[in-house]
Amino acid sequence: MSTTYVDAAVCDWVRSTTGISITRDNAAPVELAIRLEAERRRLSPAELVAGVLSGRLPAQSFIDAITTNESYFFRAQKQMEVAVGELLPERLRKQPERDQRLLSIPCARGEEPYSMAILLRERGIADPSVRLMGADISQRCLADARRGEFGALALRRTDAVRAKRWFRAVDARRYRLDPTIVARVQFHRINLLTDDVVALGGPFDILFCQNLLIYFDPATIARALAALRRLLRPDGWLFVDHTEWNLPRAGFQMQERGGCVGFRPSGTPLTDAMGPPPVSRRRAVPKPPPALPARPLTSTALRPEPPSRAATGPARVTDDAFEPPPPTALDAFDAALAQAPLDSAALLGKARVLADGGEELEALECLETLLEALDEGAIQMPLDDRIEALALFGLLLNRKGLGGLAQGYFDELARLAPGHAVLRLRGAGHV
Ligand SMILES: C[S@@+](CC[C@H](N)C(=O)[O-])C[C@H]1O[C@@H](n2cnc3c(N)ncnc32)[C@H](O)[C@@H]1O
Repeated sequence: MSTTYVDAAVCDWVRSTTGISITRDNAAPVELAIRLEAERRRLSPAELVAGVLSGRLPAQSFIDAITTNESYFFRAQKQMEVAVGELLPERLRKQPERDQRLLSIPCARGEEPYSMAILLRERGIADPSVRLMGADISQRCLADARRGEFGALALRRTDAVRAKRWFRAVDARRYRLDPTIVARVQFHRINLLTDDVVALGGPFDILFCQNLLIYFDPATIARALAALRRLLRPDGWLFVDHTEWNLPRAGFQMQERGGCVGFRPSGTPLTDAMGPPPVSRRRAVPKPPPALPARPLTSTALRPEPPSRAATGPARVTDDAFEPPPPTALDAFDAALAQAPLDSAALLGKARVLADGGEELEALECLETLLEALDEGAIQMPLDDRIEALALFGLLLNRKGLGGLAQGYFDELARLAPGHAVLRLRGAGHV
């Protein structure tokens, strides 16, 4: 599948509407998202694109489809611990007369603000004057966030003890977050670049804006930073992902706290009681991602309860059964892809892990990138791997009710491996 719909007009529209820059690296997932969304709305991709760009069709579900909503609990654990464990108690002590507001923007499906809500509870901070909010441009993500149910991969960095305490298995793949944590976070739909951020009810004491600026070009980053600056109290803190540390320049100064790098509005006295002097940029070498918990989450620790006990007690821990994809496999594939974005083995491996973990859209995106690079001759891969990629892609599309799209991949599979098991299952009506 080549990127036939992601042309200059689509790129311009996406950039001016969401801020997101479409590059060669992320064009394939956007193309796939357009095709899936078109199929969902029973339109051709060309009709969908023309309708959205001309304003004849509502833009929101198109935006929902093309945004990358990848997130997981405790992704920025160290920064969250500093925010919740150090900054917040200090501010509550020093400013007892007013609310303390924490905002995660963008919050995706709520993984980030919910992680902070969990940390607050674990630290016994029940003060109602601490307000937690999440905001995102994606309506679909926010609906998922409010539902409070997550796939196994969203818990891939949550240690087993914590997962058992705060989640209950709904079935083999879905986990429900404790409703008291869900109730702790308010969600708002907002476009950081074009909406009036005052509607969020700030100013905020602590902002998490992780993994958004990386999708923007320099001019858009400057606009986003200006909006973040408006959202933040003059003595507040902004935390971005370590891959984004070189981005907050205008209006912010870097400051270290508890071994973490944060950003404060320029003009904040850096020797104030809120924190120690700044680190120089030269010292701010990105740290490796937080170490994996000693005992990684396994779905064994979160197996669904037998129905009779579901309403009454905590999940039973058993030693048997299915192990979910090891979290480290995803890390290894991501590390390989950071070096070589078109590493075919890593793309296929990552797609397998994601599909096993129920993250089907993300798995489809990996496979789409892989198959497109193969079609363009940008990479080579063993025939067996190509066959597996086609079979998995077809199966996943089919599972999403997109049989029409899947057919082309099954046809190619039939040309390369006429007796493939997936085709036999399909012939027997099982797929
Ligand atoms: C990769 S997620 C990051 C989520 C979380 N902060 C994290 O680090 O795990 C990026 C999110 O940015 C949201 N987004 C993209 N453009 C946006 C905009 N202009 N305003 C608000 N949210 C936006 C997307 O919907 C998506 O959920």
